[in-house]
Amino acid sequence: MQFHRHNEKILIIDFGSQVTKLIARRVRDLGVYSEIITPRQASKMNNFNSIKGIILSGGPSTVTKKKFETVPKFFFHKKIPILGICYGLQLIAKIFKGKIKSSKKRREFGRAFILKKNNSILTKKFFKPKSSVWMSHEDAVVKLPKNFKSIASTKDSKLTIIENAKDKIYGVQFHPEVTHTDNGLQIFKNFLFLICKVKKGWNIKSQRERLIQEIKNEVKNEKVICALSGGVDSSVAALLINKAIKKKLTCIMVDTGLMRKNEFKVIYKIFKDKYKLNVKLINASRQFFQKLKNISNPEKKRKIIGNLFIKIFEKEAKKIKNVKFLAQGTLYPDIIESRSSTGSKTSKIKSHHNVGGLPKKMRLKLIEPLKEFFKDEVRILGRSLGLDNRIALRHPFPGPGLGIRIIGNITKEKVRILQESDGIFINELIKNKLYYKIWQAYAALLPVKTVGVMGDSRTYEYTCLLRAVTSEDGMTADYFNFNGDFLDKISYKIINNVKGVNRVVYDITSKPPSTIELE
Ligand code: XMP
Repeated sequence: MQFHRHNEKILIIDFGSQVTKLIARRVRDLGVYSEIITPRQASKMNNFNSIKGIILSGGPSTVTKKKFETVPKFFFHKKIPILGICYGLQLIAKIFKGKIKSSKKRREFGRAFILKKNNSILTKKFFKPKSSVWMSHEDAVVKLPKNFKSIASTKDSKLTIIENAKDKIYGVQFHPEVTHTDNGLQIFKNFLFLICKVKKGWNIKSQRERLIQEIKNEVKNEKVICALSGGVDSSVAALLINKAIKKKLTCIMVDTGLMRKNEFKVIYKIFKDKYKLNVKLINASRQFFQKLKNISNPEKKRKIIGNLFIKIFEKEAKKIKNVKFLAQGTLYPDIIESRSSTGSKTSKIKSHHNVGGLPKKMRLKLIEPLKEFFKDEVRILGRSLGLDNRIALRHPFPGPGLGIRIIGNITKEKVRILQESDGIFINELIKNKLYYKIWQAYAALLPVKTVGVMGDSRTYEYTCLLRAVTSEDGMTADYFNFNGDFLDKISYKIINNVKGVNRVVYDITSKPPSTIELE
């Protein structure tokens, strides 16, 4: 049987905006496959067969300078509809001989009200009385390009939406992909279904059989190993590969001793008993504690944990003879972030973020079956493979685990205190139906001891910090606004049940300026 790859797709050219990924998300959420490429990759393209529409993203470049980021002119002569967003609009204006001015006075950041001037298919059902849109630009188009019409304006930019309906080229100065733009999704709906005339129908589940077949074709009769952390990505990758090649896959779980309370045992049981995977659990906590003794520098801790993890994984992997492939749960955002806007592999992604950490010396071929997908899509794929909700909907957890949630040096005793406190916090979140409203929540242990009084005695013990944030992708985050009674209850439970803590504080900083983790 032939499994088709994506036979209709929307191509997104990434000029470096922080929110390009959201464009791809919106398009996929509407049931159309989208792919992000760099301008450099675009300049080498010669096959446009499956491309039904092109979106030019925003970005930091400026067309008012001599050198600016662009795509080859032939993109505009393929009779494929084009939508330019922010910088994308300015680029269209430049190419078609409009005028763009850079002006500190004219710059718009944040919300702006938009006024309709003319009808356009792009804006069908988009305008509402007092529609506001999200702006982030300094340059503005001040003279319409040839054969273009103005569709809408704001107070500070007269040409906020422009179109050349005959050639199907459109531009918007604002960001319809961010939720701060009212009704922004309608712009994408109109572009996709009325202008590009694509059919709705793509979804991650429709890709499942193709992915399984591709793994079978690639692996054939060889062996695959995989580092299973119990996070969504490695779990779904393992389940998918297991569907394709069964016992030829061996999963290795390295218990660093820095996991949440009972977490690894539960996950191990699920994979072994429920999914019947070939999985080996390695208890390496002693080695980790030994290496981490008296280390309190966050970067040092991360390096030690990462390196030791790889060493142990390699040692275990060697025990399985003739392995050819290493499976990793790399996601689409990791791939996008690993290339710069010019297409060269300059900025290495948060390599510390992934447990697999790529044992290069092992000379294994990589299989990364999730590399086309976003996290939410992987969750859906996971559920279609029967992935337990306890894993599919789990909050993100960093590779170095509790090691970066114990500020200062790490001891077994501190890990115990933290596991107990964190367990209470997370259980209460689940019991109170708050867990799924939160992107990530955890307890951390601060190295400060303070004075307290319990019963009639003076105490001098550690401080437990609670953190809970909402976020869409972990790049920015807001702290979660618990009601006082809930926090009160958690504090009471922790102090009364965990020996070693006499003070509980709640972190009320957002990201930026803070990060989600403390180290
Ligand atoms: P920060 O702290 O940078 O975290 O705001 C953003 C997201 O990344 C997670 N994170 C990690 N994940 N290995 C991981 O797998 C790591 O070393 C790591 N450090 C941070 C963090 O939990 C949050 O979801």
